[in-house]
Amino acid sequence: MEYDIQELARTALSMRKMSYTPYSHFNVGAALLSKDGKIYTGCNIENASFTPTNCAERTAFFKAVSEGVKEFTAIAIAGGPAGEDPIDYCPPCGVCRQVMSEFCTDSFEIILVKSETEYETFTLPEILPKRFGPKDLLG
Ligand code: THU
Repeated sequence: MEYDIQELARTALSMRKMSYTPYSHFNVGAALLSKDGKIYTGCNIENASFTPTNCAERTAFFKAVSEGVKEFTAIAIAGGPAGEDPIDYCPPCGVCRQVMSEFCTDSFEIILVKSETEYETFTLPEILPKRFGPKDLLG
């Protein structure tokens, strides 16, 4: 499916403004494109107890799924120290990769964003080979 990578990159970058990161001061934004063409946004949300912290990617997925949307084309992710433009790519953590694995097919694209014009794209099997997914339990 054709889609506007720069719009996704821009949205991920701008969602960093919404991050709640009093502990790490590391702001991550995500823009998740559903198969029906809608963008679901996310930011990371930290917690004084640390483990309840939710990554930007999972925020975006859970917003979409909670609205009945479960088919996705791509996600753009941008992260770096708060108050600065990203100086590097921010790859998704293992837990977020596993959440992608629940809802996404092998063609799902993960776009790591440094700026609106600088990004790298990977497929789900590239960043999570030999994944454990719904088919392992449901056949
Ligand atoms: N974080 C994300 O939101 N996404 C990632 O893929 C990596 C890490 C967040 C979690 C935490 O709030 C901060 O970045 C530092 O780990």
